[in-house]
Amino acid sequence: MLILFWMKFSLKKKAVNLDTLKVPEHLAVIMDGNGRWAKKRGLPRVAGHRTGADSVKHIVKSCDQLGIKYLTLYAFSSENWNRPESEVEALMGLLEKFLKERLPEMLEDNVRLKAIGRLDMLPKNVRDELDHAIAKTAANTAVTMILALSYGGREEIVDAAKQLALKAVAGDIKIEDIDNQMLSDHLYTADIPDPDLLIRTSGELRLSNFLLWQLSYAEIVITDKLWPDFRHDQLVASLQEFSLRDRRFGKV
Ligand code: FPP
Repeated sequence: MLILFWMKFSLKKKAVNLDTLKVPEHLAVIMDGNGRWAKKRGLPRVAGHRTGADSVKHIVKSCDQLGIKYLTLYAFSSENWNRPESEVEALMGLLEKFLKERLPEMLEDNVRLKAIGRLDMLPKNVRDELDHAIAKTAANTAVTMILALSYGGREEIVDAAKQLALKAVAGDIKIEDIDNQMLSDHLYTADIPDPDLLIRTSGELRLSNFLLWQLSYAEIVITDKLWPDFRHDQLVASLQEFSLRDRRFGKV
């Protein structure tokens, strides 16, 4: 009897929550905690990254189900090049494997792939797989998955500033015409709306050089879950937290 009551209550609670769920158009995620997940299990760090790659697969599908149109994932930062060579190699290997193995599923699920960052720094084999998957999925219309690779927010702003300076020197733009919109148009994310929500897993309270310009008005949800444990239910829980936020964009 008690179990029946609990089942009824929990099902009802879920239904009500899902009805009132606010869904961001663009979700950005700092996928943190792979190393700690592995350490807790006495496994090498790469095992955490491997299970983390499974979370990526699940979360893209959840975004489609929930109606999230853009998902940006911080997969490899500019600073991550400073990790031990063996870990960098393992991450690049995982990325290549992910791109190769997941492409049929991305095509089937109508997922469009994009990438942002200093992509010319990636090893050629990874770059080739990336370019191939981006080209193959370019016309897809469900979720746009944007992988931030060799990405740094400050580096992105520097790259945009250099482009603007070159255009100004060439006389193609006037310095007094440079404004927020023009700078946005020269970021890697020029054709992508700003994220409405940033989720960071593993409880850390930092931006870590991620989308510094674009996150100006994003809501931030921090969850203690480690990224390899972050799946559909954890995403829904984060969206529930987001749904309670009152977004005022600096107004009253
Ligand atoms: C942070 O965890 C995670 C990363 C630096 C890499 C993220 C990579 C993946 C999720 C797998 C590969 C991605 C794709 C798209 C296939 P951490 O290693 O800093 O964890 P820690 O803080 O617990 O040490």
